[in-house]
Amino acid sequence: MEKLENVVELTHPLLQHKITMLRDKNTGTAEFRALVEEIAMLEAFEALNDLQTVDIECETPIEKCMAPVIAGRKMAIVPILRAGLGMVNGIQRLVPTAKIGHIGMYRDEETHEPHEYYCKLPSPIEERLIVVTDPMLATGGSAIDAIDLIKQHGGKRIKFMAIIGAPEGVRALHEAHPDVQIYIGHIDRELNSDAYICPGLGDAGDRIFGTK
Ligand code: URA
Repeated sequence: MEKLENVVELTHPLLQHKITMLRDKNTGTAEFRALVEEIAMLEAFEALNDLQTVDIECETPIEKCMAPVIAGRKMAIVPILRAGLGMVNGIQRLVPTAKIGHIGMYRDEETHEPHEYYCKLPSPIEERLIVVTDPMLATGGSAIDAIDLIKQHGGKRIKFMAIIGAPEGVRALHEAHPDVQIYIGHIDRELNSDAYICPGLGDAGDRIFGTK
């Protein structure tokens, strides 16, 4: 698809390899879940490459020196339930101090429209860097609504991370929230009439949690 400002499609070979393993319909639940975590960690490594650092004094076994640590800005990871939960551990392993919010969305089976049923965010949210996660950016409806909600609560600096996106969803999210940086492991061909991403990986929530 066309290049859009603030949309980053990640190309690292390790990431692409792991996404292919995810797509495989023979990949079982335990492996699928582990792969989602690893991919989220690799994506976060890239998505957080603009974190500010500050030098602190540090004493090595050899001598004292000044060395960088991540500066004050606090972070929140906000998974969109339920599939977004699968990405939290991978990011939290990189940033153990991040607080976790939750936004519950389900999509109407017929209209494919998202509906919110739960929202709990760390407070105050204003000063935090917020990373919203959902492995599949399909129509973009849930992501747009979730980010609307976060902004209504005062969220300002927001990044969105998905593993696979459809061009339709990427465009819709970018159009609704051009200020949000979107990181995606791969942008697939299209959505089908059931709003599944093609070729995609099926239902991410079912595959992470072993339901269905
Ligand atoms: N959600 C999924 O889990 N998979 C899709 O293909 C689209 C939305």
